[in-house]
Amino acid sequence: MSKAVKFRIAIAFALAFVAVVTYVMLPTSLDRRSGVVPQGSFGGSFSLLDHNGQRVTDKDFRGAYMLIYFGYTSCPDVCPLDLRFMTGALNELGDDGDRVQPILITVDPLRDTPAVLADYVAAFHPRLVGLTGTTEQIAAVAKSYGVFREKEGEAADLAAAYLVNHTAVTILIGPDGKFVRVFSHGSGLGEIAASLREIL
Ligand code: NI
Repeated sequence: MSKAVKFRIAIAFALAFVAVVTYVMLPTSLDRRSGVVPQGSFGGSFSLLDHNGQRVTDKDFRGAYMLIYFGYTSCPDVCPLDLRFMTGALNELGDDGDRVQPILITVDPLRDTPAVLADYVAAFHPRLVGLTGTTEQIAAVAKSYGVFREKEGEAADLAAAYLVNHTAVTILIGPDGKFVRVFSHGSGLGEIAASLREIL
């Protein structure tokens, strides 16, 4: 091998390394703790408003698996990607996918009103349910599902654009209301579909 070829190979490896490091670090820098997968068993009761403004509780979903993602509609990148994977996995399952209820619980209840959620969920999946509530209700449900959320910066003004750091995980709850498993951020469509196929 000539020196020039060796040099080019070394450069290629260096670029690949930088790409991998960037890929691993990027979600963390965007959503500081999004990569942290909560350990343990999560779940619990909630009473929230759906995207049609109807009050729903966790018990309304008994008999179906709940696939719950915590996120918010103004999230620039992490949430849309995870929601695409989640809903794409359900489509992949065909009729079996109908046994799973996809749910988005907002971590940004001040901006994510039922009307805002209605537009958002429709863009992802016809059966995706958006849930919101008071700040206190959302804080309680996030806590019981092991989800960290924190508004970035000091902008308390609703009109101001702000980001919300949040744990980016998808949580699967069984038809009996019991915790099944967590999918970490970046779990691909194929991984989610394969796992659900095994469980269903
Ligand atoms: Ni997000």
